[in-house]
Amino acid sequence: MTLDEQLKKMAQDWDLRAKENARYYVNTERQDWTDEEFFRSGRRTVEEEILTDMTNICQGRDPKQMKVLEIGCGAGRVTNALSEIFGEVWAVDVSAEMIRQATGALAGKQHVHLVQCNGTDLSGITASGTFDFAFSTIVFQHIPSYAVIENYVREVHRLLRPGALFKFQVQGDTSIQSSPEDTWLGVSFSDARAVEMAENCGFEPRYRHGAGQQYFWLWYFKKPAS
Ligand SMILES: C[S@@+](CC[C@H](N)C(=O)[O-])C[C@H]1O[C@@H](n2cnc3c(N)ncnc32)[C@H](O)[C@@H]1O
Repeated sequence: MTLDEQLKKMAQDWDLRAKENARYYVNTERQDWTDEEFFRSGRRTVEEEILTDMTNICQGRDPKQMKVLEIGCGAGRVTNALSEIFGEVWAVDVSAEMIRQATGALAGKQHVHLVQCNGTDLSGITASGTFDFAFSTIVFQHIPSYAVIENYVREVHRLLRPGALFKFQVQGDTSIQSSPEDTWLGVSFSDARAVEMAENCGFEPRYRHGAGQQYFWLWYFKKPAS
């Protein structure tokens, strides 16, 4: 399978999932999310992963002055909660249908920018070195390619200012076997592989939590320019 074929399949499969029941595939805890419960679950994610970690994330900045990026925003579950905290939010997703649904849910929020991407880069966002924080959860665990994930990490490096944090989750259960055409079960990372990817892409992998488990969280800080 070529990279182009793989990216096309990711977009098609996630479009189908989004048309069938986007909110279920975004968060499989429930089949029948109400608006209120769905967006409350996004606030819970942000409470757990962001509001507990504001020292690393804000580094003394006022959140309302910060520009943040989310990779794999789905139907806007977490994006909405991010928009309640940060001054400017950019979010990308490979699925046009997910972006359509997120756009509907976040309509009227002038400080939120939703962009469909090609599944491996952030070429739709040109303002290099201007982002203060980047975040991604339950996205890379679905991507069946180390090269695609590493390319996103390089792209986030391009967009962040020196010293800023990219906090993201990967699959840490290395017993999981993914295959190139499966867009549900992605590749898994050992701790050594997570460290190697950071170093390949110009980040310091300062903290890592949950190695060996599905929710393996990585704190990558962009190294200051030398
Ligand atoms: C399980 S959902 C999670 C959505 C969101 N992060 C949340 O927590 O609510 C995974 C999302 O990742 C997106 N996705 C999958 N592969 C992607 C890729 N290669 N590039 C960008 N987005 C991708 C899917 O379209 C889907 O919206």
